[in-house]
Amino acid sequence: MIRSRIIGTGRAVPPKILTNDDLSRMVDTSDAWIVERTGIRERHILDPSQAASDLAAEAGRQACRKAGVDPSAVDCIIVGTVTGDCPFPATATFVQKKLGAPAGSCAFDLSAACAGFLYGMSIADAFIRIGQFKNVLVIGVEVLSRIVDWTDRSTCVLFGDAAGAVLMTAGDDKSAGRLLSTHVFADGSLAEILWQPVGGSREPATPEALAAKRHFVQMNGREVYKHAVRNMASCARTALEVNGYTPDDVAWVIAHQANLRILEGVSDRIGIPMSRFFTNVDRYGNTSSASVPMSLDEAIEQGKLKPNDLLIFAALGGGLAWASAAVRW
Ligand code: ACO
Repeated sequence: MIRSRIIGTGRAVPPKILTNDDLSRMVDTSDAWIVERTGIRERHILDPSQAASDLAAEAGRQACRKAGVDPSAVDCIIVGTVTGDCPFPATATFVQKKLGAPAGSCAFDLSAACAGFLYGMSIADAFIRIGQFKNVLVIGVEVLSRIVDWTDRSTCVLFGDAAGAVLMTAGDDKSAGRLLSTHVFADGSLAEILWQPVGGSREPATPEALAAKRHFVQMNGREVYKHAVRNMASCARTALEVNGYTPDDVAWVIAHQANLRILEGVSDRIGIPMSRFFTNVDRYGNTSSASVPMSLDEAIEQGKLKPNDLLIFAALGGGLAWASAAVRW
């Protein structure tokens, strides 16, 4: 049976660090409040001279290098992002050029916010299993610092900029890094609890809309929190049940790093201790679609993953959209 498998991972993090203490000089907040409510200590901010495609291309380049695959052999690039270079064309097309993937290969973006990378992995899995593409690069990239209101303490403390990538190709039932299943969900009735209202066809970016700051992230934090815990836990459980596994079988949960309290809530609900959740939210904040592939890349680098480990991925974000995957490492 053809299975898609992960053969390389990469990440790109801008060098500039913004600490909680830095933020406490910009808005009425404190390191103690941010750490207690979110577990975040610092985040990285992209230099104004760069865009999402620069970070994405760097993460993609690393994933290709670690897989030993030249970018000229990448035949499909999927970029999950809500902060692409511009409304169109797709950021993936800029990445294709920057990376040196062939002109004429497939490149597109998808919008599923923090679940964007796992949605992308699900599509890549299908492409590979039907034989449509051979080497699919799936990237999650966000430059959330560009759509956050830096005077709004309820949102600006949460987010950071970064990219993560995986290179996927075909394998079989015995291959290391094989995907066992992916699961994707959305609930449009909750679209407006986390969104960026202005900048599309519904509310174009007029001077009035900009003055009202509606081009920045708007969020009902409490509602998002509740749904994030509930749905990340339920989709992680789905990934286990579909494959006939129990929480005890899981070596690592690589979940979207929204904040530590959400991860603790998910851990409680699915009955997998926090010691088996990979976390790096303290150093990067919430990097949305970048957080799962970045975490995977760091977990590998830190030597945490052993051959044959069962990994569960889970994420939730604006849409609301959420997704999970089971991977045999
Ligand atoms: N510093 C200090 N005080 C603050 C800050 C801040 N940065 N932000 C809000 N407050 C204040 C509020 O004004 C409020 O004050 P009041 O009681 O005087 O009115 C008080 O703290 C409590 O505010 P709440 O919003 O009720 O705080 P809560 O405990 O819900 O924590 C948080 C807020 C951290 C945003 C929480 O709701 C949360 O984690 N939500 C999930 C949001 C999230 O992760 N979004 C990311 C995108 S979606 C995703 O990735 C899953």
